[in-house]
Amino acid sequence: MAILKIARMGHPVLRSPARPVEDPTAPRVATLVDDMLDTLADAGGVGLAAPQVHVPLRLVIFHVPAARLAAERYRDAGLTDDTAAVPMTVLINPVIEPLGDETDTAFEGCLSLPGMTGAVPRFTRIRYRGVGLDGAPIDRQASGFHARVVQHECDHLDGILYPQRMADLGLFGYADDMHKTLPTPETGDPA
Ligand code: NI
Repeated sequence: MAILKIARMGHPVLRSPARPVEDPTAPRVATLVDDMLDTLADAGGVGLAAPQVHVPLRLVIFHVPAARLAAERYRDAGLTDDTAAVPMTVLINPVIEPLGDETDTAFEGCLSLPGMTGAVPRFTRIRYRGVGLDGAPIDRQASGFHARVVQHECDHLDGILYPQRMADLGLFGYADDMHKTLPTPETGDPA
């Protein structure tokens, strides 16, 4: 068990594409995941990608622990969301496929940009595939907040941070101050 140091925006590991995991069942991958789970629990986010802990591999962990809260935030922002609770998921070598062209915009945070938030358009519905720690395939469809979290995490594997996805950088700023001017920034879900 270990809490790992989280890379912050500007570190080269966050700007480079990550490498595929050759053997998802290797013990050192399990050790990495254990440490990432500890790190995420300590930091209090909903997701974490391996490059954020300075490991350039295509591996992410995420969950949607408070689906009802996420859904309420979406409704408050005028969006529909049918996100169900998603248990902690280890997703290795993921591939995302948008299901349709529909997008919605909501506020995101990121553990690599502490204290910041921004409004980010994401595909509303996606299919994602990959493998788990046991090497078994994962193949899911997701929408709303669940889809957003997966897109955010997988962007880390391509060296992309959420500000690079933003349509209006005027909606990027310090979470504490955005609260004062915007009704529903989603600042409680850093990933
Ligand atoms: Ni992030």
